[in-house]
Amino acid sequence: MKKPVTITITGAAGNIGYALAFRVASGQMLGADQPINLNLLEISPALGTVSGVVMELHDCAFATLNRISATDDAKIAFRDCDYAMLVGARPRGPGMERKDLLLENAKIFSAQGKAMNEVASRDVRVLVVGNPANTNSLIAQRNAPALNPKNFTAMTRLDHNRGRAQVALKAGVAVADVRHIIIWGNHSGTQYPDLHHATISGKPALGVVGDQWFRENYIPTVQQRGAAVIKARGTSSAASAAAAAIDHIHDWALGSASGDWVSMAVPSDGSYGIAAGVIYSFPVTCQNGQYSIVQGLPIDDFSRSRMQATYDELCEERDGVKDLL
Ligand code: NAD
Ligand code: LMR
Repeated sequence: MKKPVTITITGAAGNIGYALAFRVASGQMLGADQPINLNLLEISPALGTVSGVVMELHDCAFATLNRISATDDAKIAFRDCDYAMLVGARPRGPGMERKDLLLENAKIFSAQGKAMNEVASRDVRVLVVGNPANTNSLIAQRNAPALNPKNFTAMTRLDHNRGRAQVALKAGVAVADVRHIIIWGNHSGTQYPDLHHATISGKPALGVVGDQWFRENYIPTVQQRGAAVIKARGTSSAASAAAAAIDHIHDWALGSASGDWVSMAVPSDGSYGIAAGVIYSFPVTCQNGQYSIVQGLPIDDFSRSRMQATYDELCEERDGVKDLL
Protein backbone atom coordinates (compact mmCIF):
# COMPACT_ATOMS: atom_id res chain seq x y z
CA MET A 1 0.00 0.00 0.00
CA LYS A 2 1.11 3.56 -0.73
CA LYS A 3 1.29 6.50 1.70
CA PRO A 4 -2.27 7.84 2.37
CA VAL A 5 -3.50 10.86 0.43
CA THR A 6 -5.91 13.33 1.98
CA ILE A 7 -9.12 14.14 0.10
CA THR A 8 -11.55 16.81 1.22
CA ILE A 9 -15.16 16.69 0.03
CA THR A 10 -17.34 19.71 0.79
CA GLY A 11 -21.11 19.44 0.95
CA ALA A 12 -20.74 15.81 1.98
CA ALA A 13 -24.27 15.58 3.40
CA GLY A 14 -25.81 16.76 0.11
CA ASN A 15 -27.05 14.78 -2.86
CA ILE A 16 -23.79 14.68 -4.82
CA GLY A 17 -21.71 14.33 -1.65
CA TYR A 18 -23.66 11.23 -0.65
CA ALA A 19 -23.10 9.65 -4.08
CA LEU A 20 -19.45 10.70 -4.14
CA ALA A 21 -17.99 9.93 -0.72
CA PHE A 22 -18.51 6.17 -0.91
CA ARG A 23 -16.97 5.82 -4.35
CA VAL A 24 -13.95 7.89 -3.33
CA ALA A 25 -13.52 5.93 -0.09
CA SER A 26 -13.82 2.58 -1.89
CA GLY A 27 -10.82 3.29 -4.12
CA GLN A 28 -12.73 3.81 -7.36
CA MET A 29 -11.11 7.21 -7.87
CA LEU A 30 -7.44 6.69 -7.03
CA GLY A 31 -7.09 2.91 -7.12
CA ALA A 32 -7.32 -0.10 -4.84
CA ASP A 33 -3.73 0.36 -3.62
CA GLN A 34 -4.17 3.99 -2.50
CA PRO A 35 -5.17 4.54 1.16
CA ILE A 36 -7.33 7.59 1.72
CA ASN A 37 -7.82 10.03 4.56
CA LEU A 38 -11.26 11.48 3.93
CA ASN A 39 -12.18 14.89 5.36
CA LEU A 40 -15.84 15.87 5.03
CA LEU A 41 -16.76 19.55 5.32
CA GLU A 42 -20.33 20.68 5.97
CA ILE A 43 -22.12 23.68 7.41
CA SER A 44 -23.00 23.42 11.12
CA PRO A 45 -26.72 22.55 10.65
CA ALA A 46 -25.76 19.55 8.49
CA LEU A 47 -23.26 18.05 10.94
CA GLY A 48 -25.88 15.62 12.28
CA THR A 49 -26.59 14.30 8.79
CA VAL A 50 -22.92 14.06 7.94
CA SER A 51 -22.27 12.07 11.12
CA GLY A 52 -24.64 9.46 9.63
CA VAL A 53 -22.59 9.47 6.42
CA VAL A 54 -19.48 8.84 8.53
CA MET A 55 -21.22 5.89 10.24
CA GLU A 56 -22.13 4.40 6.87
CA LEU A 57 -18.60 4.89 5.55
CA HIS A 58 -17.24 2.97 8.55
CA ASP A 59 -19.90 0.31 8.00
CA CYS A 60 -18.64 -0.30 4.45
CA ALA A 61 -15.27 -1.45 5.88
CA PHE A 62 -13.46 -0.24 2.75
CA ALA A 63 -9.86 -1.48 2.71
CA THR A 64 -8.75 1.84 1.18
CA LEU A 65 -10.28 4.07 3.86
CA ASN A 66 -7.53 4.91 6.34
CA ARG A 67 -9.23 7.69 8.34
CA ILE A 68 -12.43 9.80 8.21
CA SER A 69 -13.22 13.14 9.79
CA ALA A 70 -16.25 15.43 9.53
CA THR A 71 -16.23 19.07 10.54
CA ASP A 72 -17.74 22.51 9.92
CA ASP A 73 -14.30 24.14 10.18
CA ALA A 74 -12.66 24.66 6.78
CA LYS A 75 -9.20 24.97 8.32
CA ILE A 76 -9.54 21.50 9.80
CA ALA A 77 -11.10 20.00 6.66
CA PHE A 78 -8.44 21.33 4.25
CA ARG A 79 -5.38 20.72 6.46
CA ASP A 80 -2.69 19.00 4.33
CA CYS A 81 -5.33 18.14 1.75
CA ASP A 82 -4.00 16.77 -1.56
CA TYR A 83 -7.30 16.81 -3.49
CA ALA A 84 -10.15 19.22 -2.74
CA MET A 85 -13.52 18.35 -4.26
CA LEU A 86 -15.61 21.48 -3.75
CA VAL A 87 -19.19 20.34 -4.11
CA GLY A 88 -20.95 22.16 -1.25
CA ALA A 89 -23.05 24.99 -2.68
CA ARG A 90 -26.67 25.71 -3.38
CA PRO A 91 -28.11 23.95 -6.47
CA ARG A 92 -30.49 25.68 -8.89
CA GLY A 93 -34.16 24.83 -9.14
CA PRO A 94 -36.49 24.76 -12.16
CA GLY A 95 -36.37 27.92 -14.29
CA MET A 96 -33.06 29.18 -12.90
CA GLU A 97 -29.75 29.55 -14.75
CA ARG A 98 -26.61 28.36 -12.97
CA LYS A 99 -25.25 31.91 -12.90
CA ASP A 100 -28.28 32.95 -10.80
CA LEU A 101 -26.46 31.12 -7.97
CA LEU A 102 -23.36 33.22 -8.27
CA LEU A 103 -23.92 35.83 -5.58
CA GLU A 104 -25.07 33.28 -3.04
CA ASN A 105 -22.38 30.70 -3.72
CA ALA A 106 -19.43 32.99 -4.46
CA LYS A 107 -18.70 33.74 -0.81
CA ILE A 108 -18.35 30.02 -0.07
CA PHE A 109 -15.51 29.77 -2.58
CA SER A 110 -13.68 32.90 -1.43
CA ALA A 111 -13.71 31.59 2.16
CA GLN A 112 -12.62 28.10 1.09
CA GLY A 113 -9.87 29.53 -1.15
CA LYS A 114 -8.52 31.46 1.83
CA ALA A 115 -8.63 28.39 4.07
CA MET A 116 -6.84 26.21 1.49
CA ASN A 117 -4.25 28.94 1.05
CA GLU A 118 -3.39 28.64 4.74
CA VAL A 119 -3.55 24.92 5.41
CA ALA A 120 -3.77 22.73 2.29
CA SER A 121 -0.84 20.89 0.71
CA ARG A 122 1.11 23.38 -1.45
CA ASP A 123 0.38 21.07 -4.38
CA VAL A 124 -3.36 20.61 -3.71
CA ARG A 125 -5.42 19.83 -6.80
CA VAL A 126 -8.83 21.49 -6.71
CA LEU A 127 -12.00 20.47 -8.54
CA VAL A 128 -14.98 22.83 -8.26
CA VAL A 129 -18.37 21.20 -8.84
CA GLY A 130 -20.62 23.77 -7.08
CA ASN A 131 -22.27 26.12 -9.58
CA PRO A 132 -21.46 28.28 -11.39
CA ALA A 133 -18.41 26.05 -11.34
CA ASN A 134 -15.96 27.91 -13.60
CA THR A 135 -16.37 31.25 -11.85
CA ASN A 136 -16.41 29.68 -8.38
CA SER A 137 -13.09 28.02 -9.26
CA LEU A 138 -11.67 31.40 -10.31
CA ILE A 139 -12.82 32.91 -7.00
CA ALA A 140 -11.18 30.11 -4.98
CA GLN A 141 -7.97 30.43 -7.02
CA ARG A 142 -7.71 34.20 -6.59
CA ASN A 143 -8.20 33.82 -2.84
CA ALA A 144 -5.36 31.30 -2.63
CA PRO A 145 -2.34 33.16 -3.99
CA ALA A 146 0.18 30.83 -2.30
CA LEU A 147 -1.10 27.80 -4.23
CA ASN A 148 -0.39 26.78 -7.82
CA PRO A 149 -3.02 28.60 -9.94
CA LYS A 150 -2.87 25.83 -12.56
CA ASN A 151 -4.30 23.40 -10.00
CA PHE A 152 -7.70 25.15 -9.81
CA THR A 153 -10.14 23.46 -12.17
CA ALA A 154 -13.90 23.18 -12.67
CA MET A 155 -16.04 20.29 -13.80
CA THR A 156 -17.21 19.98 -17.40
CA ARG A 157 -16.65 16.24 -17.40
CA LEU A 158 -20.36 15.67 -16.86
CA ASP A 159 -21.07 17.60 -20.07
CA HIS A 160 -18.32 15.62 -21.81
CA ASN A 161 -19.80 12.31 -20.67
CA ARG A 162 -23.27 13.46 -21.66
CA GLY A 163 -22.03 14.43 -25.11
CA ARG A 164 -20.28 11.11 -25.59
CA ALA A 165 -23.38 9.17 -24.56
CA GLN A 166 -25.67 11.18 -26.88
CA VAL A 167 -23.44 10.41 -29.87
CA ALA A 168 -23.28 6.72 -28.94
CA LEU A 169 -27.08 6.58 -28.65
CA LYS A 170 -27.60 8.35 -31.98
CA ALA A 171 -25.10 6.16 -33.84
CA GLY A 172 -26.14 2.93 -32.10
CA VAL A 173 -22.60 2.17 -30.96
CA ALA A 174 -20.91 1.60 -27.60
CA VAL A 175 -19.71 4.67 -25.71
CA ALA A 176 -16.16 3.28 -26.02
CA ASP A 177 -16.40 3.70 -29.81
CA VAL A 178 -16.90 7.47 -29.46
CA ARG A 179 -13.73 9.53 -29.03
CA HIS A 180 -12.48 13.09 -29.11
CA ILE A 181 -15.60 14.81 -27.80
CA ILE A 182 -14.94 18.42 -26.73
CA ILE A 183 -16.75 20.77 -24.38
CA TRP A 184 -15.47 24.32 -24.79
CA GLY A 185 -16.03 27.10 -22.27
CA ASN A 186 -18.45 27.47 -19.40
CA HIS A 187 -20.46 24.78 -17.57
CA SER A 188 -23.63 26.61 -18.56
CA GLY A 189 -26.13 26.92 -21.38
CA THR A 190 -23.50 28.68 -23.52
CA GLN A 191 -21.02 25.78 -23.40
CA TYR A 192 -20.04 24.57 -26.86
CA PRO A 193 -20.17 20.79 -27.29
CA ASP A 194 -18.08 20.36 -30.44
CA LEU A 195 -18.13 17.28 -32.67
CA HIS A 196 -15.78 18.56 -35.40
CA HIS A 197 -12.92 16.41 -34.12
CA ALA A 198 -14.96 13.50 -32.75
CA THR A 199 -14.81 10.02 -34.22
CA ILE A 200 -17.15 7.04 -34.13
CA SER A 201 -15.27 3.77 -34.53
CA GLY A 202 -12.45 5.79 -36.11
CA LYS A 203 -14.66 7.60 -38.67
CA PRO A 204 -15.44 11.36 -38.48
CA ALA A 205 -18.51 11.65 -36.24
CA LEU A 206 -20.15 14.44 -38.23
CA GLY A 207 -20.17 12.22 -41.30
CA VAL A 208 -22.15 9.61 -39.32
CA VAL A 209 -24.58 11.77 -37.32
CA GLY A 210 -24.90 14.64 -39.82
CA ASP A 211 -24.37 18.35 -39.43
CA GLN A 212 -28.07 19.15 -39.02
CA TRP A 213 -28.48 16.78 -36.06
CA PHE A 214 -25.27 18.18 -34.56
CA ARG A 215 -26.48 21.79 -34.74
CA GLU A 216 -30.20 21.37 -34.06
CA ASN A 217 -30.32 18.46 -31.61
CA TYR A 218 -26.95 17.63 -30.15
CA ILE A 219 -25.76 21.09 -29.11
CA PRO A 220 -28.99 22.12 -27.31
CA THR A 221 -29.46 18.66 -25.75
CA VAL A 222 -26.01 18.69 -24.16
CA GLN A 223 -26.25 22.37 -23.20
CA GLN A 224 -29.64 21.89 -21.53
CA ARG A 225 -29.19 18.41 -20.07
CA GLY A 226 -28.84 19.66 -16.50
CA ALA A 227 -32.14 21.55 -16.79
CA ALA A 228 -33.82 18.49 -18.34
CA VAL A 229 -32.70 16.33 -15.38
CA ILE A 230 -34.01 18.95 -12.93
CA LYS A 231 -37.34 19.02 -14.76
CA ALA A 232 -37.63 15.22 -14.67
CA ARG A 233 -36.29 14.55 -11.16
CA GLY A 234 -37.30 17.78 -9.43
CA THR A 235 -33.72 18.02 -8.21
CA SER A 236 -30.39 18.36 -9.97
CA SER A 237 -28.18 15.56 -11.24
CA ALA A 238 -26.34 13.80 -8.44
CA ALA A 239 -25.11 10.28 -9.30
CA SER A 240 -23.94 11.34 -12.77
CA ALA A 241 -22.27 14.43 -11.29
CA ALA A 242 -20.47 12.26 -8.73
CA ALA A 243 -19.38 9.86 -11.50
CA ALA A 244 -17.99 12.77 -13.52
CA ALA A 245 -16.12 14.15 -10.50
CA ILE A 246 -14.52 10.71 -10.00
CA ASP A 247 -13.56 10.61 -13.70
CA HIS A 248 -12.07 14.13 -13.55
CA ILE A 249 -9.77 13.44 -10.59
CA HIS A 250 -9.00 9.86 -11.67
CA ASP A 251 -7.75 11.00 -15.05
CA TRP A 252 -5.88 14.03 -13.69
CA ALA A 253 -4.10 11.90 -11.06
CA LEU A 254 -3.60 8.62 -12.93
CA GLY A 255 -3.68 9.69 -16.60
CA SER A 256 -6.35 9.93 -19.29
CA ALA A 257 -6.98 7.05 -21.71
CA SER A 258 -4.44 6.87 -24.51
CA GLY A 259 -5.74 7.80 -27.96
CA ASP A 260 -8.42 10.10 -26.56
CA TRP A 261 -8.80 13.31 -24.61
CA VAL A 262 -11.20 14.60 -21.93
CA SER A 263 -12.71 18.01 -21.19
CA MET A 264 -11.63 19.96 -18.11
CA ALA A 265 -12.23 23.61 -17.26
CA VAL A 266 -8.73 24.90 -16.48
CA PRO A 267 -7.03 28.30 -16.36
CA SER A 268 -6.37 29.27 -19.98
CA ASP A 269 -2.76 29.71 -21.04
CA GLY A 270 -3.90 31.73 -24.07
CA SER A 271 -4.61 28.62 -26.18
CA TYR A 272 -7.21 29.05 -28.95
CA GLY A 273 -7.27 32.83 -28.36
CA ILE A 274 -8.89 32.46 -24.91
CA ALA A 275 -7.35 35.10 -22.62
CA ALA A 276 -4.87 33.67 -20.13
CA GLY A 277 -6.32 33.04 -16.68
CA VAL A 278 -9.97 32.52 -17.65
CA ILE A 279 -11.17 29.14 -16.34
CA TYR A 280 -12.41 27.69 -19.61
CA SER A 281 -13.15 24.12 -20.64
CA PHE A 282 -10.66 22.70 -23.15
CA PRO A 283 -9.80 19.27 -24.48
CA VAL A 284 -6.90 18.02 -22.37
CA THR A 285 -4.76 14.94 -21.96
CA CYS A 286 -3.37 13.97 -18.55
CA GLN A 287 -0.12 12.26 -17.68
CA ASN A 288 1.99 12.04 -14.51
CA GLY A 289 -0.50 14.11 -12.51
CA GLN A 290 -0.50 17.02 -14.99
CA TYR A 291 -3.00 18.07 -17.63
CA SER A 292 -2.04 19.59 -21.01
CA ILE A 293 -4.39 21.46 -23.30
CA VAL A 294 -4.58 19.73 -26.70
CA GLN A 295 -2.98 22.11 -29.18
CA GLY A 296 -3.38 22.93 -32.84
CA LEU A 297 -6.95 21.83 -33.56
CA PRO A 298 -8.39 23.67 -36.60
CA ILE A 299 -11.37 25.86 -35.62
CA ASP A 300 -13.92 26.94 -38.25
CA ASP A 301 -16.07 30.09 -38.12
CA PHE A 302 -19.09 28.30 -36.61
CA SER A 303 -16.98 26.90 -33.77
CA ARG A 304 -15.14 30.18 -33.26
CA SER A 305 -18.39 32.11 -32.74
CA ARG A 306 -19.66 29.50 -30.24
CA MET A 307 -16.34 29.52 -28.38
CA GLN A 308 -16.45 33.31 -28.22
CA ALA A 309 -20.05 33.39 -26.86
CA THR A 310 -19.19 31.13 -23.92
CA TYR A 311 -15.96 33.08 -23.30
CA ASP A 312 -17.96 36.35 -23.23
CA GLU A 313 -20.31 34.87 -20.62
CA LEU A 314 -17.37 33.86 -18.42
CA CYS A 315 -16.00 37.42 -18.62
CA GLU A 316 -19.42 38.78 -17.57
CA GLU A 317 -19.58 36.37 -14.62
CA ARG A 318 -16.04 37.38 -13.61
CA ASP A 319 -16.94 41.08 -13.79
CA GLY A 320 -19.96 40.41 -11.57
CA VAL A 321 -17.77 39.11 -8.72
CA LYS A 322 -14.74 41.36 -9.12
CA ASP A 323 -14.91 42.40 -5.45
CA LEU A 324 -14.12 38.78 -4.49
CA LEU A 325 -11.17 38.33 -6.86
P1 NAD B 1 -27.37 19.74 -2.19
O1 NAD B 1 -28.16 20.93 -1.78
O2 NAD B 1 -28.01 18.40 -2.17
O3 NAD B 1 -26.07 19.63 -1.27
C1 NAD B 1 -25.23 20.73 -1.08
C2 NAD B 1 -24.60 20.52 0.27
O4 NAD B 1 -23.62 21.55 0.41
C3 NAD B 1 -25.58 20.66 1.44
O5 NAD B 1 -25.47 19.51 2.27
C4 NAD B 1 -25.12 21.92 2.15
O6 NAD B 1 -25.31 21.85 3.56
C5 NAD B 1 -23.65 21.94 1.78
N1 NAD B 1 -23.01 23.26 1.90
C6 NAD B 1 -23.55 24.48 1.67
N2 NAD B 1 -22.64 25.45 1.96
C7 NAD B 1 -21.51 24.82 2.34
C8 NAD B 1 -20.25 25.26 2.79
N3 NAD B 1 -19.96 26.57 2.88
N4 NAD B 1 -19.32 24.35 3.11
C9 NAD B 1 -19.60 23.03 3.06
N5 NAD B 1 -20.80 22.54 2.66
C10 NAD B 1 -21.73 23.43 2.31
O7 NAD B 1 -26.76 20.06 -3.64
P2 NAD B 1 -26.10 19.04 -4.67
O8 NAD B 1 -27.16 18.48 -5.53
O9 NAD B 1 -25.19 18.11 -3.95
O10 NAD B 1 -25.27 20.06 -5.58
C11 NAD B 1 -24.16 20.75 -5.09
C12 NAD B 1 -23.67 21.77 -6.12
O11 NAD B 1 -23.17 21.09 -7.28
C13 NAD B 1 -24.76 22.72 -6.62
O12 NAD B 1 -24.23 24.03 -6.76
C14 NAD B 1 -25.10 22.15 -8.01
O13 NAD B 1 -25.66 23.11 -8.86
C15 NAD B 1 -23.72 21.71 -8.45
N6 NAD B 1 -23.65 20.76 -9.57
C16 NAD B 1 -22.64 20.92 -10.47
C17 NAD B 1 -22.48 20.03 -11.52
C18 NAD B 1 -21.38 20.20 -12.55
O14 NAD B 1 -21.42 19.48 -13.55
N7 NAD B 1 -20.42 21.10 -12.38
C19 NAD B 1 -23.37 18.95 -11.63
C20 NAD B 1 -24.38 18.80 -10.67
C21 NAD B 1 -24.52 19.72 -9.65
C1 LMR C 1 -25.88 19.78 -14.19
O1 LMR C 1 -25.33 20.10 -15.25
O2 LMR C 1 -26.59 18.76 -14.08
C2 LMR C 1 -25.65 20.61 -12.96
O3 LMR C 1 -24.86 21.73 -13.25
C3 LMR C 1 -26.90 20.97 -12.25
C4 LMR C 1 -27.66 22.04 -12.98
O4 LMR C 1 -27.99 23.05 -12.35
O5 LMR C 1 -27.92 21.88 -14.18
